[in-house]
Amino acid sequence: MADLKVTYGGLEFKNPVVAAAGPLGRTFEALKRSIEAGCGAVTLKSSNIEVKAEITPKPAAHVYPRPAHAFLKKYGLTNMMINWEGVPVDFTAEEEKQLIQKIRSMADDHGCRIIANMHPDPMYMADPDAFRADIETIQSAEPDLIEFCTCPYHLPHEITYPEAADYERIKEAQAAVFSVVMEVARVPVIAKANGPVFYRALHALRDLGVGCFHVTEGPLFYGTIVDIDKMTPLAPGPAVITYGAHRRPIMNQQCARTRHLGDNFDLMSSGGIWSANDVIERLMCGARVVGLHTAVQYHGQKLFTKIIDGLSEWLDRKEMGLQDVIGKAVPKIVRQEAHDAFMRECDRSVDQIRPVIDPERCNGCGICANCIHGGIVMDGKKAATNLDNCVRCGVCESICPVDAVTLQV
Ligand SMILES: Cc1cc2nc3c(=O)[nH]c(=O)nc-3n(C[C@H](O)[C@H](O)[C@H](O)COP(=O)(O)O)c2cc1C
Repeated sequence: MADLKVTYGGLEFKNPVVAAAGPLGRTFEALKRSIEAGCGAVTLKSSNIEVKAEITPKPAAHVYPRPAHAFLKKYGLTNMMINWEGVPVDFTAEEEKQLIQKIRSMADDHGCRIIANMHPDPMYMADPDAFRADIETIQSAEPDLIEFCTCPYHLPHEITYPEAADYERIKEAQAAVFSVVMEVARVPVIAKANGPVFYRALHALRDLGVGCFHVTEGPLFYGTIVDIDKMTPLAPGPAVITYGAHRRPIMNQQCARTRHLGDNFDLMSSGGIWSANDVIERLMCGARVVGLHTAVQYHGQKLFTKIIDGLSEWLDRKEMGLQDVIGKAVPKIVRQEAHDAFMRECDRSVDQIRPVIDPERCNGCGICANCIHGGIVMDGKKAATNLDNCVRCGVCESICPVDAVTLQV
């Protein structure tokens, strides 16, 4: 087993795989399963202000009716789900404290770090004393770190809805949250938000003393999915937030771009991670630790064990350690010069490259002959190239189900 130890927030994690905040962090059973599956850290569900009277101002988080989750396969979107779990008032600091106390000894036995998590929405900001008091309540349970999720959609609608996104005000709102947090925090603090927020606010948060960041969840990510039989969207309004594998490339880039902002902070990242390869990729994009949620909802906590084992096997096979991986792709990501060099190095002219069909492998399915340029045609039961039309795009190689087509130089 490779040495998977990594430091984050000045603390040693036994491995870089983290159960991210959400339903995975709201019950003893869920946390126990993640701890036993071998996670380097588990994160509690965000707790919220306890609302005793009528809510003023109205909560910013989107509240959806139960059932809380929709898995989207039946709408043609595999490995995706909607997070309808915006209910902001059903997990309090006191409940979070009790849950941390309940898992503490088990987490220690497994060498698993505990990350507390709070949701500093506008109701807390309207009552900073309540916010301070709840941070203290959670800290009294002695979590190892404490994370604050201020993804834009947790901030007031009028500054975060896509049409109105006002990053200056988002930055101010972030700074207001973390200036309160840093007054009372006694454990490493993690600021969790999406890349576009960090591109603007990270340095301001660094100035306040925040040392750990968790980049997640893509851009302001709203969409609509219509149930065509009912002729109605799954939820009205602009705020359906989709989670899933499609976020992986977006989050890889946001992670690398955030890493480009400096090297004097620790970075975690989540979003679209489904396998050991995805974890390795995100580490290469500059994350020191990597969080998962949605994939575990599909596959259960045994996925953590599979991913940790896969990471270890990969490192052993490559005879490398995590220090050889973390951030290694960053210098080449989001840099025009690197991209220009890549184009000079890799691009081929039409004369230098062409598709070749292996007649032994070709099963005559005709998929490659869907070529929109007419670069491949069916010749009887076998595919054949038409090089006059072929633009050497490589689609045929990508879509051949039996690997009969290769672009050869
Ligand atoms: C159902 C659900 C609930 C979530 N609740 C929280 C939360 O309470 N606090 C938080 O910081 N993140 C929350 N998240 C975000 C996750 O922690 C994670 O950052 C995000 O889902 C991206 O990772 P994934 O693609 O592996 O799901 C939630 C995600 C899901 C799917």
